[in-house]
Amino acid sequence: MGIDMPLPATSIAPPIGRLIQIGEVLDPSPADLADLEAATMTMLTSTDLEAALIEVTHVDADDESISRALADLGAVEALGDLRRLRTGLTASTATVVGLLGRVLEMLAPEAPGPAMLSDLGRRLIGTAIGERRLLDALGPREWIDSLALTDPHSVAATSPYRRSGGHVVASDDDRAVEAVMTQETFTSLRVVDRVLDLDQPLLADMYAPLGRCVAFVDSNVIGHHGDALRAYFGHHGIELTVLVHRAMEVDKGVRTVEHMLGELKAAGVARHEPVLVMGGGVLADTAGLACALYHRSTPYVMLSTSLVAGIDAGPSPRTCCDGFGYKNLLGAYHPPILSITDRHFFASMPEGWLRHGLAEVLKMAIVDDAELFALLESVGPELVTTRFGTLAVDGQPDVESEAGRVIAAAVRSYVAAEYGNLYETHQLRPHAYGHTWSPGFEISAGLLHGHAVSIGMGFGAFLAHRADLLPERDMHRILAVISRLGLSTWHDVLDDHDLVWTAQERMVEKRGGQLYAPVPRGRIGAVGYLDAPTRPELEAALRDYRVLATAGPRGGIGIEPHCRDVGLEDPATVGTDEPSIEAPVAPPGRPRPTAA
Ligand SMILES: NC(=O)c1ccc[n+]([C@@H]2O[C@H](COP(=O)([O-])OP(=O)(O)OC[C@H]3O[C@@H](n4cnc5c(N)ncnc54)[C@H](O)[C@@H]3O)[C@@H](O)[C@H]2O)c1
Ligand SMILES: [Zn+2]
Repeated sequence: MGIDMPLPATSIAPPIGRLIQIGEVLDPSPADLADLEAATMTMLTSTDLEAALIEVTHVDADDESISRALADLGAVEALGDLRRLRTGLTASTATVVGLLGRVLEMLAPEAPGPAMLSDLGRRLIGTAIGERRLLDALGPREWIDSLALTDPHSVAATSPYRRSGGHVVASDDDRAVEAVMTQETFTSLRVVDRVLDLDQPLLADMYAPLGRCVAFVDSNVIGHHGDALRAYFGHHGIELTVLVHRAMEVDKGVRTVEHMLGELKAAGVARHEPVLVMGGGVLADTAGLACALYHRSTPYVMLSTSLVAGIDAGPSPRTCCDGFGYKNLLGAYHPPILSITDRHFFASMPEGWLRHGLAEVLKMAIVDDAELFALLESVGPELVTTRFGTLAVDGQPDVESEAGRVIAAAVRSYVAAEYGNLYETHQLRPHAYGHTWSPGFEISAGLLHGHAVSIGMGFGAFLAHRADLLPERDMHRILAVISRLGLSTWHDVLDDHDLVWTAQERMVEKRGGQLYAPVPRGRIGAVGYLDAPTRPELEAALRDYRVLATAGPRGGIGIEPHCRDVGLEDPATVGTDEPSIEAPVAPPGRPRPTAA
């Protein structure tokens, strides 16, 4: 479908080409804006705008050719809005006019019409015509009637953020039925500087058309950034309901999630209304899970305030809480609809917390991105001391632009690796590098997660070299950068060979009978997978690795490697606020299950 217009001479996907043309010809002065209702109706019923509405309702925004076309035009940001516009008929007029204005502005940046449309969208917020559903405002239209038959989502979606489909076949007597069910989920990630500055549109664009925002906020974060949060929403005239939660490891139990569910119900959150989650990884996991459960799926926007959340837990589709004494046992796959990483929040984080978060960035660099690795080699320590370029420190270089590049590259790498395996349906996960043996000794050693992971990375690089998969020079570069960042390559807990062997056995069990240990392969920035060493091989490797790692700076020990060193709880802490059900006991001879 769509309107009949000649295409531009480029190879742009046709729907995008048509939208560009519409943006360019859109009349910027259709009516007197003093009478908002009349102006809106004149706009909506103009040929150009109706053509744009038909186009955006029909465009398959999930099609890769559309994504590529927008990327080539430098308009990736338009994609999320285009996806929401597919169900625009059921949204408010203010929402649609605003979204359409933004999309056309990105596609036809020089033309005056789209900017005027965005302006109109902002003015419509909170007005009677602005709050009317577009379907009702437009009235009967033939193209809308036919849409009801061909694409029910476009005229009657329950949420703009999800689509489902599938097909069914049945035997002649209908006693045997086979069905395929699919669900499409999409998400947007943005790396932004100072997202709570009053002139930043990202959150206002999301929440102003809704008129309110219900937010879960980490209790430490509210202390540092609560004023800015309230000032931002106040400035934009958006009612803000703040639900403060302490989010320490001990709070990661199912009762916390249950409490959150009660709060969502009390606030009357609708199933298409994105909840805001502002905090670190613990809140990302628990509040994300509450959103997954509420209405069976409620969208949420993740505003990450810690490094680990910003590049890993925040955009992660894996929401969870602890259960029956096991970390992250219960959960759901439920990615945020929008994930925002803003390094300026890191200014309020202590050095030790930030340093151990860097291990997750380094992990991505080693197995996926050689450029990112080189960047960490050059500015890694300064990223910690200057809190990613957000604090001026005497005698330290300005690393602001490098810090921005590190964050953006880490987010991109994370998504590229994880979103193709959203439901963890296979084991070839490069980002499990450093996480194969470390779960076995992180807790007993009381190590910060990042230090346990960096020890795992050092050992993995050593094993890769030993298996002739990695040149010696690259192994030494990896060990050197770990030390330079103040992370650990060694802890005496590795001398407990029983412990490390048990860790490996559990990991083999968890990964379905094979170890699939991701390691750098061939060079830094590429990945391969190791099979499990035998026990004698593992023990010999641990003995040799000890010699190598302890010869490094600080004897291989990182700066403030233990949780107690930086005032965080012991990593063995699991959510204890759970119902008193006896923990199930594993059958004899089988290892106790571990959760990711
Ligand atoms: N779902 C996933 O895929 C995934 C991935 C990685 C980690 N995780 C989970 O994330 C958690 C670790 O995340 P984390 O390191 O963000 O821990 P966290 O959420 O516990 O945050 C660490 C501490 O920093 C505080 N904090 C957060 N932002 C702050 C800021 N801007 N200023 C000052 N203090 C701030 C928090 O209140 C907390 O006390 C673990 O529970 C882990 O299981 C989940
Ligand atoms: Zn990790």
